Amino acid sequence: MVDFQTATSGLTDLPAAPVVVQKLHRLMSDEAGSAEIAKTVESDAALVAKILKLVNSPFYGYSQEISSVKDAITILGIDAINQVILSTAVFHSFSVSDRILDMRLFWEHSFAVGIIAKHLSRGAGRDIQNDTLVAGLLHDIGRLVYARCEPSMFTAFYVERQTTTSIENEAEFFGMDHQQVGALLAKKWHFPEGILSTVSNHHAPERAGKEFRYMVSVVNIADLLCHVMQIGCSASSYVSEFFPSAWQILKIEMGEIEEMLLAALEEIDRSRNMLGTL
Ligand SMILES: [Fe+2]
Ligand SMILES: [Fe+2]
Repeated sequence: MVDFQTATSGLTDLPAAPVVVQKLHRLMSDEAGSAEIAKTVESDAALVAKILKLVNSPFYGYSQEISSVKDAITILGIDAINQVILSTAVFHSFSVSDRILDMRLFWEHSFAVGIIAKHLSRGAGRDIQNDTLVAGLLHDIGRLVYARCEPSMFTAFYVERQTTTSIENEAEFFGMDHQQVGALLAKKWHFPEGILSTVSNHHAPERAGKEFRYMVSVVNIADLLCHVMQIGCSASSYVSEFFPSAWQILKIEMGEIEEMLLAALEEIDRSRNMLGTL
């Protein structure tokens, strides 16, 4: 196993989180109230527009119009707003040239995994669904870190090799696989623990701690389904192995899966027009 801290490639030289993300993390650590959090977020008009666009989109799927950050905090909760801000910040900081990676296909894969994960976890309640949605959206960020920090290695690996891009191959080629690289970013940007665990373990859900095993398993299965249905592309067509324990923890009857997937596919279709605009 490679020691992340001693790896010498550009992968450890990650961009710092945007100021608003850092401020928000401080406020959340101090357990600041929703009014103070709303004030901080509202100081960035472009961010407010993006947050409102995302929370009013089919991705979140709330029926009522959410027209202010305060409303969004009341309806979604502070944790969910933090996740929305992290997601939009990742979108911005890790946008790479289409010559290196087809970003539209990448986000299509990411959104689809998030949406399928949300539908698979519908029995677990709205708060868990919001968590699985964002964990799914961000699960493959390690690949974006590769593309942004080591673009020529990224091209040499994913474009030129194509068939031998398993996570074992990634670890050998880059010094760490995309789960480990994603975890570096998740730690540096203070992602919530559940998302960190998903980014770190989504190809090995049995490795996740008990507390987050459900979330990681939902994303693992959603990722697998997304690959099978060939929705979007996250640089590699590598599909991780099927873990029966990850499926069992979902407690979904075989009869329910078709209806869940149809609902998810409809929502993925409706979400397509917002890709690339966040
Ligand atoms: Fe992955
Ligand atoms: Fe994926």
